[in-house]
Amino acid sequence: MVFSKSIIDIIKQRTSWRTYSKRLLEEQIKEKLLEILKLRNFKSPFSEIAGNCRFDLIATPEFDPDEKKKLGTYGLIKGAQEFIVGAVEKSDYDRENYGYLLEAIILSATDMNLGTCWLGGFFNRSLFSKKIKCEPNEAVPAITPVGYAAETRRAKEKIIRSFVKADARYSWDQLFFERDFSTNLSQENIGKYATLLEMVRLGPSAGNKQPWRIIKELDADKFHFYVRFSKDKKGLIYNKFVRLDIGIAVCHFDLSAKEVGIGGGWTFSEPDIEKPEELKYIISWNGT
Ligand SMILES: Cc1cc2nc3c(=O)[nH]c(=O)nc-3n(C[C@H](O)[C@H](O)[C@H](O)COP(=O)(O)O)c2cc1C
Repeated sequence: MVFSKSIIDIIKQRTSWRTYSKRLLEEQIKEKLLEILKLRNFKSPFSEIAGNCRFDLIATPEFDPDEKKKLGTYGLIKGAQEFIVGAVEKSDYDRENYGYLLEAIILSATDMNLGTCWLGGFFNRSLFSKKIKCEPNEAVPAITPVGYAAETRRAKEKIIRSFVKADARYSWDQLFFERDFSTNLSQENIGKYATLLEMVRLGPSAGNKQPWRIIKELDADKFHFYVRFSKDKKGLIYNKFVRLDIGIAVCHFDLSAKEVGIGGGWTFSEPDIEKPEELKYIISWNGT
């Protein structure tokens, strides 16, 4: 069994944790985690198209003193001794794939009652790239500390959480649609799919922007996933984080579908549906 408890409970349990006890991972826990990092249990719908993706556990006590000062987490993360770091071959869908796989790992760590926090921007990318021996054709899109959470969140962490409204999520009406982007999807009449979409809604995202938008076809269990890019005076901002975020959304939907016993598969075929210009089509789920 991949998880020891319901994935739905694990998704609800996970929150970003930025304050850690300085305790190193116990040997048994470390071994379990290293096994998970081999990715034998997880495969994303992007894996076939994207290049190879690999993960490792990096312990900062092994860093030299100069490196220890340069983790680049800008005081956001405190006490963490170990980090999960991944490298992905640069390719189409590399970040979507990475988003799915690192989130599956993070949920596994949550299942083991370990603290984690997605870090897409605030880390020393060149240092961690060196530690994972990143090749020129690879990138390190994000990392996470992993360890025993401190008993309480420190004041600085509480400020960060309140700044990004970390506990809030957009309502269904803002995220899920039916037939066209001006018709809201009702939670009634979609049976177990309501749980899957709720699990997408609860997902973490960079800056808590929640860029996922999903449209269901009328009278069919077909769900099309889009990302919403930010817009400023110069136009659309195609940042790399939303591609990780959509990977996370697909991960939550996919793992929850497996758990509640909904059959189906993923395809890449944009439907002929008129969309706002800031939305970009990514992938579709076809229920069977
Ligand atoms: C792709 C991605 C990148 C993120 N990057 C950072 C980061 O650099 N620093 C940070 O403190 N939090 C980062 N976060 C955490 C988000 O701020 C957090 O997930 C969001 O506020 C929701 O809070 P929650 O995870 O506790 O539910 C990132 C999250 C994601 C998904």
